[in-house]
Amino acid sequence: MNETLLINIKSLLQIRDSETDLVKGAEMADLPALENAWLHVVDGEIKAFGSMDDCPELNCNRFDCSGRFVLPAWCDSHTHIVYAGSRESEFVDKIKGLTYEEIARNGGGILNSAARLHDTSEDDLYEQALKRAQEIISYGTGAVEIKSGYGLNTNDELKMLRVVRRLKETTPLTIKASFLGAHALPQQYKANREAYIREITDEMLPAVAAEGLADYVDVFCDKGFFTVDETARILEKAAKYNLQPKIHANELDYSGGIQVGVQYNALSVDHLEYTGPEEIEVLLNSKTMPTLLPSTAFFLRLKQPPAREMIQAGLPVALASDYNPGSSPSGRMAFILSLACINLRMLPEETINAATLNGAYAMGVNRDLGSITVGKKANLIVTSEISSPAFIPYAFGSQLIDKVMLNGKWM
Ligand code: NIG
Ligand code: FE
Repeated sequence: MNETLLINIKSLLQIRDSETDLVKGAEMADLPALENAWLHVVDGEIKAFGSMDDCPELNCNRFDCSGRFVLPAWCDSHTHIVYAGSRESEFVDKIKGLTYEEIARNGGGILNSAARLHDTSEDDLYEQALKRAQEIISYGTGAVEIKSGYGLNTNDELKMLRVVRRLKETTPLTIKASFLGAHALPQQYKANREAYIREITDEMLPAVAAEGLADYVDVFCDKGFFTVDETARILEKAAKYNLQPKIHANELDYSGGIQVGVQYNALSVDHLEYTGPEEIEVLLNSKTMPTLLPSTAFFLRLKQPPAREMIQAGLPVALASDYNPGSSPSGRMAFILSLACINLRMLPEETINAATLNGAYAMGVNRDLGSITVGKKANLIVTSEISSPAFIPYAFGSQLIDKVMLNGKWM
């Protein structure tokens, strides 16, 4: 038996019963906690916790958390960490005045990453992605969703998803894979969109399903990318393979992406910079998690998504990093929380709920992760000695995570 007892925890954060699968509306400002606590981990799971007033006498490894907070590891429900190379030259183009859409139209953007990925071997791609996986673990991430979408042809999409499978097998992260063939239209299909949609529905989806490589399906449903009708066709076909949608929606316009996502029972709709009362109403009548990616809005200088209006209306909100080479070259979740506080005016407690339990819901792992609950996996962050949980988003450039435990083991 592998056991650890964490003792003298200044405050144990995000304690939930096993029935609570997400938090929404006004509840998001509430972060249930236990001060001066202990936590017992056995064989990778949270076995018990309580107050130091009655700490059990256990003969096992003890870890003293004096002055430090313990909370669930981040659940980053939207990333693209399997990619080749980097795109800092486009970063410079953007500084000089080009927009994301202009760069994309000139063959840059996603198509630039697709060309690089095509020229990179599966092994090399794995090594590059593994570094990013290790990096995000050091920042406190314990679960991550990873998308394909830099392949844009059957072979290269499969190559990406096989790399994700390898990361599932070789890292301590809990990983979900999403198939995102509809990320951008390859240049050679410019005059024939229909042929690419058919390649996705008739070739890529069956091939991905045959190897069981994806947990979810994604489409970039937005102005200049894929239409609502094209999205619906792809989601319709994906449903036949039991692939639930998690889609990119309303980043660049009121695209109808939120509506089509909800119509096809999406687990999450993500980005949502363009969300008005109509979209909020649709989301209120759904089980779909609205997921905000504040580092993308920051990096591309987009309009900010209306987080306050969403929470005020009673919606849940999740936060994710969107870690990718073009619009968010960072997977540092603590910084995502800072941006959510500063630019979206979310409260620190709301951001912690959004990046743990709601993030877990948005990637379908909330039964096992996202809160301090007996029976859940012991994926934990131990902070450094800080004065309050709000210090995490407040001190936006500091690394305030001392230790990370995944599956009961210290990283
Ligand atoms: O989530 N919005 C679409 N896709 C990515 C960007 C990918 C890229 O530019 O490489 C995103 O922002
Ligand atoms: Fe994305």
